[in-house]
Amino acid sequence: MSRRESILREMGLAPLWRLRDKPAAEAEMPAETAPAAASAGDERTLRIAAMGWDELKDAVAGCRDCRLCERRKQAVLGVGDVDADWLFVGEGPGAEEDEKGEPFVGQAGKLLDAMLAAIGLQRGRKVYIGNAVKCRPPGNRTPEAEETAACFPYLQRQIALIRPKLIVALGKPAAETLLNAEVKVGAARGRLFDYRGIPLIVTYHPAYLLRNLTDKAKAWEDLCFARRTMKGLDDVGG
Ligand code: URA
Repeated sequence: MSRRESILREMGLAPLWRLRDKPAAEAEMPAETAPAAASAGDERTLRIAAMGWDELKDAVAGCRDCRLCERRKQAVLGVGDVDADWLFVGEGPGAEEDEKGEPFVGQAGKLLDAMLAAIGLQRGRKVYIGNAVKCRPPGNRTPEAEETAACFPYLQRQIALIRPKLIVALGKPAAETLLNAEVKVGAARGRLFDYRGIPLIVTYHPAYLLRNLTDKAKAWEDLCFARRTMKGLDDVGG
């Protein structure tokens, strides 16, 4: 256990939960296609993993690696401080985000801004906001597993470049993408997960909260937990 983890544990903020990985998609492929698909995917992942911000922006803007590209107006990479302590990850752009090229600018975005303000945060100030998929799923449907998988190397690269202190996954698709496991938000909230050494908290998606007002109190608890966790991380110099 790292010193940081043991101090977080002392503060009642750990353990850091690690979920068991989902089986790799290629395990379900016919044996003869799996190795070729895996190496093409590996090559793409490695290429993306070496990108700087400018290359990443261009790659996402021109990406045609899943069918979500067919109906997007534009891809939406993310917004905020590239040196952020806080990373909030949503699901994917909606109609307004597709139009404006910025995440969370519609009704759910207004609620997210209010949630940030409630814990003393502001979009762009030590905060970065991204999504599990960069292109709008038609009709605002939930992104499919192949779509989140195709987009994941971009999110991984964003996280590697930003190196946030804490990640907040907004809703199930974001949590499942980042943790590579099945997640029930109701069961996952209040626990501290681990994304490659970065503590991760799961809470409800703002769009869900707009439809389920009674869960807003739980989201508030989650935000307080996130704020306490960040304070703990700051105290241990993490
Ligand atoms: N919902 C999301 O998950 N992301 C956005 O950018 C907008 C709405």
